[in-house]
Amino acid sequence: MTDSFLLIKLVHILSATLLFGAGLGTAFFMWRCHRSNDIAAIAVVTRSVVLADSTFIMPAILILPVTGYLMIEYMGYSLYTPWIFWSFGLYLLVVACWLPVVWLQMKMRDLAAVAIENNEALPATFGLYFRIWTRLGYPAFVSALIVFALMVFRPL
Ligand code: HEM
Repeated sequence: MTDSFLLIKLVHILSATLLFGAGLGTAFFMWRCHRSNDIAAIAVVTRSVVLADSTFIMPAILILPVTGYLMIEYMGYSLYTPWIFWSFGLYLLVVACWLPVVWLQMKMRDLAAVAIENNEALPATFGLYFRIWTRLGYPAFVSALIVFALMVFRPL
């Protein structure tokens, strides 16, 4: 294996780590601040989570298929090799869950900012957005775990 292949693989693994770590980390802090009912904390955390989306998660989401594809080409694998095919499908599912999550996080950030400005409680919509956000998180988390397993075990 050449050094350039290994470098691509390193970038791929770092991106996977970033996607999983930043995803789990931001979800944890969103959940914790929501439970605190502290609107000032919610406003700060939702703002930071939206920033983390564009700084860490989005680049990782873009880099993974590119580096994955380059490795497939190098190794001479087919896209239809089952572990690659299923990983790619699950990756798309992660992205499909993440896109509405980004939108929900921006909405929650804006609602928290308005509540602070007007010195009001959070509106009921915030709770609704938070519930949808949570439900999208579970399939994304499980899919990412399965992709990790498929990439390592390559069972088929
Ligand atoms: C987007 C589509 C993806 C493609 C096409 C792809 C492709 C690949 C390929 C071909 C390898 C093997 C490199 C080798 O033979 O040494 C690999 C390794 C790896 N991939 Fe992916 N990947 C993708 C997404 C992901 C995702 C979403 C994750 C985790 C969230 C991930 C985590 C890993 C890890 C940890 C390895 C190293 C496994 C090992 O060497 O044992 N990949 N990937």
